Amino acid sequence: MSQNNLESSLHEARLFAPPPGFAAQAVPNSAQLAALHAAAAADHVGFWADQARVALHWQRPFTQTLDDSAAPNYRWFADGLLNVSVNCLDVHLAAHGERPAIVFEPESGEPRALSYRQLHTQVCRAANALRSLGIGRGDRVVIYMPLVPEAIIAMHACARIGAIHSVVFGGFSALSLRDRIIDAGARLLITADGGHRGGHIVELKAAADKALAEHTPIEQVIVLRQTGHDVPMQAGRDLWWHELLAAQPDSCPPEWVDAEHPLFLLYTSGSTGKPKGIQHSSAGYLLGAKLSTQWVFDLKPADVFWCTADVGWITGHSYVAYGPLANAGTIVLYEGGPTYPDAGRFWRIIERHRVSIFYTAPTAIRALMKFGDDVPKQYDLSSLRLLGSVGEPINPEAWMWYRSVIGGDRCPIVDTWWQTETGAILISPVPGVTATKPGSCTQPLPGIAADIVDDDGNAVTRADAGGYLVVRKPWPSMLRTIWNDNERYLETYWARFQNRYYVAGDSAHRDADGYYWIMGRIDDVLNVAGHRLGTMEIESALVAHPRVAEAAVVGKPHEIKGEAVFAYVVCLGERPEGDVQAFIDELRHWVGEQLGAIAKPDEIRFADNLPKTRSGKIMRRLLRTIARGEDITQDISTLENPAIVEQLRGKSSS
Ligand code: WT7
Repeated sequence: MSQNNLESSLHEARLFAPPPGFAAQAVPNSAQLAALHAAAAADHVGFWADQARVALHWQRPFTQTLDDSAAPNYRWFADGLLNVSVNCLDVHLAAHGERPAIVFEPESGEPRALSYRQLHTQVCRAANALRSLGIGRGDRVVIYMPLVPEAIIAMHACARIGAIHSVVFGGFSALSLRDRIIDAGARLLITADGGHRGGHIVELKAAADKALAEHTPIEQVIVLRQTGHDVPMQAGRDLWWHELLAAQPDSCPPEWVDAEHPLFLLYTSGSTGKPKGIQHSSAGYLLGAKLSTQWVFDLKPADVFWCTADVGWITGHSYVAYGPLANAGTIVLYEGGPTYPDAGRFWRIIERHRVSIFYTAPTAIRALMKFGDDVPKQYDLSSLRLLGSVGEPINPEAWMWYRSVIGGDRCPIVDTWWQTETGAILISPVPGVTATKPGSCTQPLPGIAADIVDDDGNAVTRADAGGYLVVRKPWPSMLRTIWNDNERYLETYWARFQNRYYVAGDSAHRDADGYYWIMGRIDDVLNVAGHRLGTMEIESALVAHPRVAEAAVVGKPHEIKGEAVFAYVVCLGERPEGDVQAFIDELRHWVGEQLGAIAKPDEIRFADNLPKTRSGKIMRRLLRTIARGEDITQDISTLENPAIVEQLRGKSSS
């Protein structure tokens, strides 16, 4: 990676101090934050031990904080015993039992709330139901559900009995679901008849049936009745959620698990064709989710917190299912599409439920911004006091719109940098303390030793010079391994700098004030609408089509989605010419079937062959340049067939 590539041209001068009213009530305030940073700097491990003792309820306290004997497979609080569900529910019953835990807004129909006591009862019943099916400690349970309270209940039910959940986003295809079920070795699948999205039904049960059509390790399927439309139930395998839970007692003794017991697997894309099962721990993960919710979102009992992420993503784990509940917060859950039935839906939900903290993705902000200021201005957004952003760098224009039109110039914005692998937010403003700059995620949280290093692993100290974003010291909520593939864990995150630091896979630079600016991925991973897509995954899907010989996928900047999927395809036999639209549609549909709708290429261009180096590597940088319609500056003298460039540009499709 050359320094020139990374040199930033961004020079954002605007600085927004926390509003005095916000700062005055915020926890942590500036003195408290300084104390946390000082404690972490003085004794990294001791700092986390102190935090873990205070923040978590332990059935048996830990005596060892960090075990680095098998580094970089770190272990935290290893001899401690706890239960994550107890930490999110049981501990609140006495003081907050009747307060709403979840306020659920279906796409159509009336909202309903679940108090902490009701949620606890439902989780206990679901946990008992799982036990009645013989599911217990260490068993993997795949959850493929719409964004409804039962999805959270299912996650906590697993946690309660020590089963390991793996949530698969409902937008993923049957084949993706199948791959994840097999890789995880899951015995149980929890799904629904369907979900609601944009006025349509998402056929989850049909996809689940397709995923299970050939042999998988799944023995039973629990089906939530959500849409009520007819779905076939396979006798002996499929069970209705409501029938199963009705027969269960309201209490369920928790399974006390080791701190390191896996809480969940979550599959995410990497730079090979196969998604990786990111494995998270129980105690370290929960500690990260709980503390970051306090530090970054200043969550108080009176707050109504709405994070729009689906539980199929890490954001929906840490800031929907776990972090806010660990803090006895009230969360809003909305099942449907952001513009259903109209572009005011999000703002109406904020008004209706008096949302005070709103956390969403730049892609959603940009999409809603397109409808104009008049839409949000029709709603009373005065309940908002804090706004958050996650998933990709937020462009200053969207940031400013978010601040003024949604936040009424009174709400701080927290631009939170983190990953599926980090478990919790690592770099972010602390809203009562940090002055923000549009487009910067500002500075690392206490106990997070983030840094930027050059190709040789040396710290980049010069302001605005870019490099690899790394973390120098282990932190409790870090991933533990990749399920079934520790080699890949070592290779992906540690090998680049001989296990000295965690390599995030992003490039970044720091300005003269020490603020971090994320510049993007350094691997072959795209970020489309805040979601990670591996270029190789999409290439493999394309190549699986009977008419496709070869494919190369690159990202192209997109106004709303951040990045769009651009595919170059080489066919078997003749290059398709003339009216190719029907075949393009077929290929897009094909990729949707293989991976899910989010992976469908936005553009497909056919070529006779792909530009490769002498060693046979596809020249992706060249393909990116061409996709963007930019002038080619790189050396193409090594190309076997230089004429191909014109064809790739789409200029010679005579
Ligand atoms: C990648 C992680 C973490 C939840 C959502 C995505 C990019 C994430 C930011 C941000 C710039 C960001 C990075 C990162 N990213 N947040 N605030 N500013 N980039 O989780 O699917 O694991 O993707 O998303 O490239 O590596 P994920």
